[in-house]
Amino acid sequence: MTRFALKRRQFLLGIGGLSAALLTGQPLRVEAQQPSLAELAKQRSLLWGAAISTEMLTIPDWAGLYRQQTRLLVPEWEMKWAVLQPDRDRFDFSRPDRLLTFARSYQAQLRGHTLLWHQQLPTWLNNLTATETATALQRYIDTVVGHYRGQLQSWDVINEPIAEDGYGLRPNRWLQQLGPNYLEQALRWARVADAQVPLVINDYGLEPDSPLATRKRQQLLQLVETLRDRDAPLQAIGFQAHLVANPQAPPSFTGFAEFLAELSRFDLDFYITELDVNDRALPANFAERDREVAHLYQRFLTAVLPTPRLKLVTTWGLSDRLSWLNQFAPRADGLPQRPLPFDFNFQPTETYGILVSLLQSQSVSN
Ligand code: XIL
Repeated sequence: MTRFALKRRQFLLGIGGLSAALLTGQPLRVEAQQPSLAELAKQRSLLWGAAISTEMLTIPDWAGLYRQQTRLLVPEWEMKWAVLQPDRDRFDFSRPDRLLTFARSYQAQLRGHTLLWHQQLPTWLNNLTATETATALQRYIDTVVGHYRGQLQSWDVINEPIAEDGYGLRPNRWLQQLGPNYLEQALRWARVADAQVPLVINDYGLEPDSPLATRKRQQLLQLVETLRDRDAPLQAIGFQAHLVANPQAPPSFTGFAEFLAELSRFDLDFYITELDVNDRALPANFAERDREVAHLYQRFLTAVLPTPRLKLVTTWGLSDRLSWLNQFAPRADGLPQRPLPFDFNFQPTETYGILVSLLQSQSVSN
């Protein structure tokens, strides 16, 4: 078992959780009477959800928290290419099918994430010619989108197509082998496989008022213009919104709100797809961290919730018991991050309280 997988399992089995419970004295049971974020969001025509992974279903309190708080799920890793087609002639839908069954068990929806990405690709895709890559890509999209035809809320067709530095498109294998038209082609193949499902391009680092985010927004605008000029099937843009707390320079989002207004001329819906707050730059103290994290959620959502075409918000996880940030951006002090609305023991955090207030507020209307 890899170090990552072992770390992940340790968190899941709650080894850390027992110490956290001793630390906080919190019970391990989920309170039943918390307002549902999804129910509050529904009252303002928003879908509210979270990323989920199959291992979370093995812990009843965790599954119960999703049932209580979400009406939209997105597989954290179970719909990545390496999982769905591990070998060239073998597809395995068992894991996402379990998540789809779980979603349906409480009338929630499931998002498809993600068909094309530069990570979590199967090794058999390496060393293919451009023609073989195109053939493999078309077969993959046709098979996977066809398998879930009519069953998903939407599909992230292309994930993170913009270059890290915001100058141009990301030089991923699709661009290198198929050229810049790969995005339009992938969208068209997905539309052939499912005539109705909303098709989405999803990316990150677009939200803060910063030179890099500004460049990425401009690049995204160019991409949308090109796809619209070519009448490519594209119904929504997904903004991952992996926010980063910075006590020296708290992020603001004025430019993002203006950008959404500019983008709305393209008749697109907007999705906030992977919302969380990276707290690695914040002090260890839980109370200080939770306050800054909650305030960053508040600043971001205050800027975004009024957007007329905003259709959904999903956080990247629901409980701090499992966050990708602990592998992707570990804190220097080794403490687990606290990026989500519920803590390690499924108790509401200060962020949860802020989300309830925002969703109940009439002044922040969408
Ligand atoms: C991450 C998952 O959280 C991890 O479990 C997995 O090992 C790698 O992918 N942006 C995305 C997501 O679009 O697919 C990534 O999810 C996080 C960054």
